[in-house]
Amino acid sequence: MSTTYTIDSSTSRATPVSAPMKRLTVPAVKRRKAEIADGRGEPLVMLTAYTVRTAQLLDPHCDLLLVGDSLGQVVYGLPSTVPVTLDMMAAHGAAVVRGSFHAVVVIDMPFGSYEASPAQAFESAAFLLKQTGAAAVKMEGGAAMAPTVAFLSERGIPVMGHVGLTPQAVNMLGGYGARGRSEAEAAKIVGDARAVAEAGAFAVVVEGVVEPIAIEITRAIDCPTIGIGASAQCDGQVLVAEDMLGLFERTPRFVKRFDDLAARIGDAAGRYAAEVRGRAFPGPEQTYAPRA
Ligand code: KIV
Repeated sequence: MSTTYTIDSSTSRATPVSAPMKRLTVPAVKRRKAEIADGRGEPLVMLTAYTVRTAQLLDPHCDLLLVGDSLGQVVYGLPSTVPVTLDMMAAHGAAVVRGSFHAVVVIDMPFGSYEASPAQAFESAAFLLKQTGAAAVKMEGGAAMAPTVAFLSERGIPVMGHVGLTPQAVNMLGGYGARGRSEAEAAKIVGDARAVAEAGAFAVVVEGVVEPIAIEITRAIDCPTIGIGASAQCDGQVLVAEDMLGLFERTPRFVKRFDDLAARIGDAAGRYAAEVRGRAFPGPEQTYAPRA
């Protein structure tokens, strides 16, 4: 079953947008690199979104919405992104496309859906784009994935690369610590970014690296770098929205909390519970009276 429906504004609980903004395109995102270089462009803004309502709220502020496979941990409470499936990505991706009208929606290719061969990657990526209406996919990996990035890009599927700390490789890496502290590892990460950019990636996420690597990659490649834990020197930034909103007690050092939603939700739930227990809710305003 295709999941690509549009939002019915008469049944949506959200207030319909009065003047929809035009959706950005993948080429416009790529062009931002040159615009930033000659002083005309602002850094790219990307946040994760997994649900229609979050997408609606974040969309006006973002150039890109990423349906990250981090939804495995954030939405499903899984121990890592490794168990995330194509069907999970398709369902959440479709919801985010339904909830957005401005940002470029990018969907993560989940672990096991693309690494075996370019053909496997094409099949998985085509499934995700058909099911969701998203504009692009993101895949982790460097030089080893470059032929796959080229295969997809040459066949009409825009690919965002992802180098440095690649969470799907947690079992190889042994954790989520910053990468590139040795010269050899730094050179490998820069080489990875070059390889996927030269293969046709329209942008590259650089995650969890020391600042000099972010600087070198951003200078070396001709598409935008989007950093997460990679300093302010990238062409854009991405965070997991729930981290940025303060929904978790523990976040990585590179996260800045712009709100404290965990405390606010806990407080609201506590007040609701107290009113239910004290029979203060529902009150007369929330109660249907029989027609006179
Ligand atoms: O899955 C995800 O949310 C990501 C970002 C952290 C870049 O890949």
